[in-house]
Amino acid sequence: MQLTITRPDDWHLHLRDGRGMADVVVHSARSFARAIIMPNLQPPVTTVSEAAAYRERILAALPPGADFEPLMTLYLTDLTTQEEIGRAAADSGVAAVKLFPAGATTNSEAGVTNLELVLPALAEMSEHELPLLVHGEVVDPEVDVFDREKVFIERVLDPLVERLPGLRVVFEHITTREAVAWVLDAPPTVGATITPHHLLLDRNAIFAGGLNPHHYCLPVLKRGRHREALVWAATSGNPRFFLGTDSAPHSRTAKEAGHGCAGIFSAHAALELCAEVFDGAGALDRLEGFVSHHGADFYRLPRNSGNVTLERHEWEVPAAYPFGDQELVPLRAGEKVGWRLVEE
Ligand code: NCD
Ligand code: ZN
Repeated sequence: MQLTITRPDDWHLHLRDGRGMADVVVHSARSFARAIIMPNLQPPVTTVSEAAAYRERILAALPPGADFEPLMTLYLTDLTTQEEIGRAAADSGVAAVKLFPAGATTNSEAGVTNLELVLPALAEMSEHELPLLVHGEVVDPEVDVFDREKVFIERVLDPLVERLPGLRVVFEHITTREAVAWVLDAPPTVGATITPHHLLLDRNAIFAGGLNPHHYCLPVLKRGRHREALVWAATSGNPRFFLGTDSAPHSRTAKEAGHGCAGIFSAHAALELCAEVFDGAGALDRLEGFVSHHGADFYRLPRNSGNVTLERHEWEVPAAYPFGDQELVPLRAGEKVGWRLVEE
């Protein structure tokens, strides 16, 4: 069984920087033509000139002959100016601005503490039709970690969309059926990304056979019925939903620690794992929309030219991949994936 589709894109990717970056970007470039690059470096990428410099470092880290376009994002802070947003909108290298609520996830300390403070910047984005990418979790310690996305919808997204109806918003890495329902009801300015791991795993995977830090990510995996809602949304053919892998590499030592980091590395098999999900749902005919069409259409970018071919063929994921002077443990490490990319 083979399937040929338009070259796909990854609409949410962490590449990091420095020595580890070359080791991870090669995985993305193997499958994806473009990717939205997350700006949560240390320090974060907050200006157009920093984004341009980061883009150059990514391009320099690519293997010779690779055809991969990084689409850069700015990290929104309480101090982001309207002028910087104007510069971002005028710069074809910057595709969007990312909102991390301060403290919500890895390297989010410099994120937004109060939405009121960034309203002028958001209004400017709305004016320029520059998309806002949202990590949709509240940071209120009173709110259970499994409810943080649901509560974010009520406390932040609903008021935001009401106040700035023209703002283009991507609700990133949605994990709940409440998020699916909200996106379905939202105006056409709203889209959502879904990760392969949230399509494949529910929260039991964190505890199966003992505590597994390699299944810890944010937003955290949820109950099975939420996973089912995500599979329904991804395979529905609805163009609001598109792939964002949220592949987020951390070294083995950072994951297997007393306070292990959040993030799952999936770039080595993200496309193949999506094929598995769509195959399982009897929806292989809709895979191309989810991985190759809907995101490009939302971002108003041309769909890719060229194709990739996938085939139903088992292969085993290595136990680890190199990551700078460390190693990382990928999703499905040491286990089988049911689809593979046919290399040209
Ligand atoms: C991401 C990371 O490691 O940068 N971690 C994660 O669990 N997804 C940050 C993020 O996207 O939340
Ligand atoms: Zn992310």
